[in-house]
Formats: sequence, structure tokens, C-alpha cells
Amino acid sequence: MNKIFSGIQPTGEIHIGNYVGAIRNWIGLVDDYDCIYSVVDYHAITVDYEADQFQERVLETALNLLACGLDPQKCRIMVQSQVPEHTELAWVFNCVTPIGEVERMTQFKEKSKQHRANINMGLMDYPVLQAADILVYKAGFVPVGEDQVQHVELTREIARKFNSRFQPIFPEPQVILSCAAKILGVDGKSKMSKTLNNYIGLLEAEESIWEKLRTAVTDVKRVRRKDPGCPEDCNIFTMHTAFSPDTMIPELDKGCRRADIGCVDCKKKLFENMTAELGPIRERASALRSQPDYIRDVLKSGAESCRDEAQQTMEEVRSVLGLYR
Ligand code: TRP
Repeated sequence: MNKIFSGIQPTGEIHIGNYVGAIRNWIGLVDDYDCIYSVVDYHAITVDYEADQFQERVLETALNLLACGLDPQKCRIMVQSQVPEHTELAWVFNCVTPIGEVERMTQFKEKSKQHRANINMGLMDYPVLQAADILVYKAGFVPVGEDQVQHVELTREIARKFNSRFQPIFPEPQVILSCAAKILGVDGKSKMSKTLNNYIGLLEAEESIWEKLRTAVTDVKRVRRKDPGCPEDCNIFTMHTAFSPDTMIPELDKGCRRADIGCVDCKKKLFENMTAELGPIRERASALRSQPDYIRDVLKSGAESCRDEAQQTMEEVRSVLGLYR
């Protein structure tokens, strides 16, 4: 079966941007592919973080994934640092990756601006570790959002470089792009993110979701109720395309353009559809909270099974590198 690898940062509670842009896509792939989904803790330490809360964040992220409906019977869920071959292969890849390639990565440039006081080697090396995550399992497909496409392209290049310098043992993985439109933060401007505090949490209480939607920025050119709006300039409309039934979308589009529907009513409809989808996720999450051992078991068997494959790849890598054995 074709293999898939994808990763998510251990931010703790996932937000609806992660859910729509990645996780929902992940769930849809488990029947047709051999999927490995990883909580990438080694990636997360490239920025400042609280070590004493870190384990909790990792577990909470795993709980969120399970609550979304990822079925550990059908896919593997693992924590990156539990399989040290990821970082081992990253070192090898460091030695075939031109510095110029990582320096031009958009995410590196952005994060270097955000974390001026801590621009460390790991931050620059981030996409090389990501390439190792994927290729240590020889995964052929990587379901990610638009913002990660560049990193997967670099992964392909690293695979090519390795293959031509040594032996052709790695595939050149392809992106599986989520077809959902990208949801912005409730500020309607920036990417939804926990750091920018413009997010709606996957497990957030309904009252709090409504408060955020109520005050969320819509089409800024639509000032008065009777002004016609532009759905393509409205993040609430984008959220409708992610959470409301397809049949409702043309109606909302027309209603907005003709000013038949106001922003508040439009938001109320969104709220209903969003909470209909998030309700069961919240319920599963609260059931999972009483089973911490179950979550640990899932991660343990995920890591064990991944370790076997990763070790095989590293054996092969050491051999083609000509390392002392
Ligand atoms: N960089 C990804 C993100 O920020 C997370 C990630 C790490 C990843 N390793 C990966 C995604 C491998 C896909 C494949 O979202």
C-alpha cells in the first residue's frame, strides 16, 4: 500500500485552521493508504518553549487528533522523538542539503523575524528534519496545507541529491493538498495561529466560539447592513465553505452580494454548522480525558511499529554511505 506521512506541531489544543487544513484531510486517507501521523516535538523545540509543560502539550495534541476521529486501528499515530532514526537521518541529509536552499525557505525567514532573539541552527534545519521524517519511511505522499508545499519540494530535492550522490533508495514524495480554502484568523488578516491569538480552538466552548465569531472581521468594505458584500473578501464566507453544507454556499454568496443577508445572520448560520461538527469532537475529547493510559498505549504501539521501518531504512542508509559496520 502507498505510504503517507504527515506531522503536526505539539501546540496542545488544535485550532479549526489545523483541523480544516490538515486533519480532516488526514482522516479521509486512512482507508486507502498506509498512514503515519506524527506529533513533531523535535520541530517544536526550535523556538522557545516551556520544558515542564511540554509532555502535556504533546499528549493534548494526540488527544485532539484522536478526538477528531483519527482511528488508531487504521493508521499509526506517533511522537517524533520516540523514533530517533528521524534525527539520525536528518544529520545525513544535512550533508547533502545546500545551505542556500534552506536559507530561502519562507517559513525560516518568517520565523527568524518572529524570534529574532533565538535564531538557532535548528530553526534553519527544520525542513531537513521534515524531509527525514518523510523519507525515513520512504513515504510517497504528504498531505499538508499550502504553507508546507515548499518544504515538501525541498524534500524531493534532498531525495534527488541523496539518490544521485549515493544510491537511488528514496522516493520523491508528492504533496496531497487539502482542497479546503485557507481559513484566516478571526482578525480576517493573518493566518490562524495560537501565537497570534486569532484562533478558534477545536475544543472551545460554544459561548466562546460565538463570542469570537460575533466579533470576527468580515468584508471590511461592507460597512452598513444595506451595503452589498464580497464573499471572496470575507473570512466568514471562507469558513462557511469549510463547515456549511455545499448546497448552502451559493445561497449565502448571492445573499451577501445582494445584501439580502447581514453579517450577523450569516455568522449565526456559520455558528450552527460549525458547532454541529465540533460538538461530537468535543464529546470524544472529554471521554478520552478519562483514558490517559489509552492515549499513551496508542502512541506506544505507533512508535514501536514505526521504529521497525525506520531502523530498516537507516540500515540501508548506513550501508550505502559506506559507514563502518
Ligand atoms: N512543518 C509542518 C508544519 O508546521 C509539520 C511537519 C513536520 C510535517 N514534519 C512533517 C508535515 C513531515 C508533513 C511531513 O505544519
